[in-house]
Amino acid sequence: MPNRISIDNRLPADHFTRTLRADVAEGLTAQPKTLPPKWFYDAHGSVLFDRITRLPEYYPTRAEKMVLRAHADDIARLTGARTLVELGSGSSEKTRLLIDALSAGGTLKLYAPLDVSESALEEAAESLCRDYPDLRVEATVADFETDLPLPDAAPRLVAFLGSTIGNFDTDQRVAFLTRMRTILTREGDALLLGVDLVKDPKTLIRAYDDDQGVTAAFNKNLLRVLNRELGADFDPGAFDHRAVWNAEAERMEMRLRARVTHTVKIPALDLTVEFTRGEDLRTEISVKFREESLTEDLTASGFTQSHWWTDPQSRFALTLATPA
Ligand code: AVJ
Repeated sequence: MPNRISIDNRLPADHFTRTLRADVAEGLTAQPKTLPPKWFYDAHGSVLFDRITRLPEYYPTRAEKMVLRAHADDIARLTGARTLVELGSGSSEKTRLLIDALSAGGTLKLYAPLDVSESALEEAAESLCRDYPDLRVEATVADFETDLPLPDAAPRLVAFLGSTIGNFDTDQRVAFLTRMRTILTREGDALLLGVDLVKDPKTLIRAYDDDQGVTAAFNKNLLRVLNRELGADFDPGAFDHRAVWNAEAERMEMRLRARVTHTVKIPALDLTVEFTRGEDLRTEISVKFREESLTEDLTASGFTQSHWWTDPQSRFALTLATPA
């Protein structure tokens, strides 16, 4: 690895097994049954997600790129960021638009991606170093839900893109933003959030239930992760993929509906789980946003929303916020 790259692995060795076990034990004994979406992303799940982002029905990735392309220069000028921090960066593809603009603006010195996947960080760091000879990359392997370290070089711009914040419910979202606010303490620090917007349910449901069945495979891959990691005996064929618009909570939900009444064993947890025919296991919430409610959340968390940009069809928004 070039010496402009460093990778700091802050995950305890047993992080995955420990948190996976706790999450599954809690979620599958709850009523209704739930599992957290972060367990979708093993190697196969990450490949499937990558395919989702290129599906004709899944507009968010393309819409967000349009907003970034249109406003990266504004973001660079407004923030003058010296450090770009990216949460849940994955392959860092969209980041290039920001890095280009911040490099052209002459302020960017350091790119600091944070992700749970060390291999994704390694790949991204190497390819970025190749293309940006003056950039240093300080990658951190961490779970931002529990650990959020920031580099010192200010001003820092924290980018949380892809509407990943939609995986949090209202309480989790405000708690997360509040914690973010407490660490953005240097002059000029800012937060860039990418959020998917409320729109007609048909478009939303199509985005989560595509014709090729990639999203269905992504959803069911969660069961394979549990089979592999916990010795469970889920039969993915015993469940149907469902994409449901929860109008009251204004969020999409992915669920797996049991086709028949059956029992699943999870030896690693000493747990037996009964599914009745037609019962739903909720695997993801994906909150859709409105400007007013997000502004409210940001204000409640100690931020001032300074800018709001959308794509021409108002499908997706980027918002820039600074500590109030
Ligand atoms: C990565 C959480 C933003 O909610 O749209 C895509 C994940 N789930 N298709 C989303 C996802 C089903 C995605 N996020």
